Amino acid sequence: MSEPLFIGMAGAGTVGSGVYTLLNDNRALIAQKIGRPIVLKSIYCRHPEKVRSQLGNDCPLTTDIFSLVQDPDIQIVVEVMGGIEPARSFILNALEHGKHVVTANKALLATHGNEIFDKSRRCRRQVFFEAAVAGGIPIIKALREGLVANRIDRIAGIVNGTCNFILTAMQKQALSFEQALAQAQQFGYAEADPSFDIEGIDSGHKLSILCSLAFQKRIRFEPSHVLGISKVSLTDVKIAEKLGYRIKLLAVCKTTASDKIEYRVEPTLLPAAHFLAQVDSVMNAVMVHGDAVGTTLYYGAGAGGKATASAVIADIVDASRASGSVGYCFEEAPDFLLPDDSESPYYVRVGNTGLTAKQWQERFSQHQIEVKRLAEVEKSRIWITGPCLLANLKALCSTLAPEDHPLSILRIENS
Ligand SMILES: NC(=O)c1ccc[n+]([C@@H]2O[C@H](COP(=O)([O-])OP(=O)(O)OC[C@H]3O[C@@H](n4cnc5c(N)ncnc54)[C@H](OP(=O)(O)O)[C@@H]3O)[C@@H](O)[C@H]2O)c1
Repeated sequence: MSEPLFIGMAGAGTVGSGVYTLLNDNRALIAQKIGRPIVLKSIYCRHPEKVRSQLGNDCPLTTDIFSLVQDPDIQIVVEVMGGIEPARSFILNALEHGKHVVTANKALLATHGNEIFDKSRRCRRQVFFEAAVAGGIPIIKALREGLVANRIDRIAGIVNGTCNFILTAMQKQALSFEQALAQAQQFGYAEADPSFDIEGIDSGHKLSILCSLAFQKRIRFEPSHVLGISKVSLTDVKIAEKLGYRIKLLAVCKTTASDKIEYRVEPTLLPAAHFLAQVDSVMNAVMVHGDAVGTTLYYGAGAGGKATASAVIADIVDASRASGSVGYCFEEAPDFLLPDDSESPYYVRVGNTGLTAKQWQERFSQHQIEVKRLAEVEKSRIWITGPCLLANLKALCSTLAPEDHPLSILRIENS
């Protein structure tokens, strides 16, 4: 067997511990598969005693992050600290020192990815980030390798397990949003401060990475195109169910006829029979459409120490094989379609307003909105529209008296 591959790792939390344990548990198997043993030479952490108590005394720890970068034996560094600094400086520094980098840090890549990929190209070293999107699902590998011959025109996915757990608990157990969030926190699926997840930011970060890879554009994260689930009511979940839909936090990017890219994260109605509507609890799934292959599906655990470690180790193995590739060289950020210019069917729920059904019909048609279906459920009147511009729906709302305003407006995704 060849020389060992020495790696260094920064961070020993959920993912870092998972990587350490999985490398130890499957050491011989991994060595057999890649033809050389992987040796984790040094792990950077702030609190060595805490890490030793979890991973044992054999764990090779350092409190000097840049010692990993300066060690000539180490060829690959793994960043699993999270956050922006010192993760950003560590990665840039490692590339300058000729190391390949593996990271799980979607927040960093979504906000500083262009700087990191520019540096990686200049340094002729690679950055691998399979674990940053949908944890253990090899979606990055699918886009980079398996689907490389395709022109991708659409990606739609459920990429945040916390939100999916909450929406599933609301649908299956009839819990309010607040009750479902408390349950997610109790099971360890949501942070004490869950805002990054429930406001859709985490999904937006992941979508911006997928969007870049799918359309060969520089990374652009756009918070104004991102809506979370904190305003989804149990009433809407129940009504959607009665009408044959499920509500999911859907991340979508697709090309448009006007050569823009539609990029959005928002709670969306999906027909109950739709594959993504069946993805429950903390599971993730991503659907990719390519011109040659058609629709492909990727489903699995989107988080958790072991599943994410599986993706990190796959990247380490890829990095060990990387030779002379110049990395990503996307030249421009995508031109996003404005949310108002995007077209979809909508679910519009109104309460007990002064307007009659006929008056509502007139308002819709005045704003070029076709109505496909009207239902009366639980003291609410629900309109299902044909495909219409969000701008037209907003214009209609602006003509309404405050008491007539819809209680909910949710996009429907049929494809
Ligand atoms: N957890 C998952 O399932 C999952 C899935 C996919 C991707 N990710 C990504 O993986 C990364 C790590 O996530 P995680 O869940 O493992 O987080 P975590 O459990 O909070 O662990 C983070 C680790 O990094 C250390 N750390 C954080 N900031 C540091 C700093 N400024 N200096 C030194 N050490 C620092 C922490 O040390 P202390 O203990 O001293 O704070 C801890 O050891 C994040 O980018 C996350 O988005 C996580």
